[in-house]
Amino acid sequence: MSSYQAALVVFVVGYSFFFCIYLWFCFNIKQKELRSFSRLTSYFTFVRNVSMDQEKRYAIVTGGNRGIGLEICRQLASVGVEVILTSRDQSRGEEAVEKLNASGLSNVVFHQLDINDPTSIACLVKFIQTCYGKLDMLVQVLDENVHLVTNFIREPYELGEKCLKTNYYATKTVTESLMPLLQLSRSPRIVNLTSTYGDLYWFHNEKLKKELEDIDNLTEERIEEIIQGFLTDFKAGKLQENGWPLTVSAYKVSKAALNAYTRLMARKYDNMLVNCVHPGYVITDMTSQTGFLTAEEGAKGPVMTALLSNNGPSGVYFDQTQIGSFSSKNLPYTIETPRWGHCETPPHAAGLDVLGSILRPKDFPPPGENPPPPGPLTQFDAKRQG
Ligand SMILES: NC(=O)c1ccc[n+]([C@@H]2O[C@H](COP(=O)([O-])OP(=O)(O)OC[C@H]3O[C@@H](n4cnc5c(N)ncnc54)[C@H](OP(=O)(O)O)[C@@H]3O)[C@@H](O)[C@H]2O)c1
Repeated sequence: MSSYQAALVVFVVGYSFFFCIYLWFCFNIKQKELRSFSRLTSYFTFVRNVSMDQEKRYAIVTGGNRGIGLEICRQLASVGVEVILTSRDQSRGEEAVEKLNASGLSNVVFHQLDINDPTSIACLVKFIQTCYGKLDMLVQVLDENVHLVTNFIREPYELGEKCLKTNYYATKTVTESLMPLLQLSRSPRIVNLTSTYGDLYWFHNEKLKKELEDIDNLTEERIEEIIQGFLTDFKAGKLQENGWPLTVSAYKVSKAALNAYTRLMARKYDNMLVNCVHPGYVITDMTSQTGFLTAEEGAKGPVMTALLSNNGPSGVYFDQTQIGSFSSKNLPYTIETPRWGHCETPPHAAGLDVLGSILRPKDFPPPGENPPPPGPLTQFDAKRQG
């Protein structure tokens, strides 16, 4: 081998050796780069997640000035949600907010809302749009229930009509008005406060019951036809004849209609969690300060539902914190003696028959009035009948 050939071999081997080292080096760098790139992306993902977690969430609570609504405001604010406490009365609402602020919850503000006044609703929408740009939770607590205890047996038509106007129609208007702002949230939630009185157990017209249960075929128009049919029968004294609930009828129909509307909304907006919650029998003004639960305990179900994670259920009825039924086979509550709250005048002293009427089994009117509707016997009835 000439010296020239030997030099060539050394050059080729040397070159190959260095080329291999170069390749190995490049490959390693690339891996490192890739690793650091993925580290970078995971860092950005982390930063984005943290900022998402820290992104402020805004909740409107209607009827937030007292009772369960006030407690919902307190509990949501305690976990860092920015709460807009609404009340129809400016001074009552401001007073409630002042109390919450004074307890260290500075993340609660007041805005007036009379849900029966379209100007008031528009004003709230404008406020949320301008100040926050989106809405994450709409918790609809308020309802027209002043007549619930005082007119338990004989509910005047005018109050019944007012009850449906507020509890169904106005609640629906508020929902529709705030829907565009809810759509701007990453995790929109609607929580409608309902009651065991909205259970279809109280309806004795099987055809109507089936229609309200059949959520795949039910429409908003049909719900409204049903409400109008109820009002017509209510006025004509045909509640029993046509199988409507017989006591606090309008309240029961309003909650059943709200339940059905909640389910329709859940079906229509699959990016949202839309649910209804029965808070339990809670010691508030509505129950003349009787009940089994404090407002703090009663607020737990609605708060849990407002804070459900994105994979939570939608179109569901929660009985406090447990999923329940829209149409129970048996009496949808237990018969026990309620606890007394701090009322100055106990309901019976005020001429109200809370224990005897709210806790009366089934839809049982007093003797001499409409007889109880035919239906399956509950365990309680069976015991009573020996
Ligand atoms: N307490 C219970 O045992 C129980 C049981 C089942 C379901 N619920 C449901 O839980 C929710 C809250 O009940 P609660 O016991 O806390 O009632 P509450 O103590 O009587 O409070 C009712 C709230 O609604 C407001 N409101 C009533 N009518 C209104 C109207 N027309 N326009 C604007 N605001 C109105 C009241 O405001 P003002 O102060 O201005 O009157 C108040 O903030 C209701 O949806 C109720 O049906 C309660």
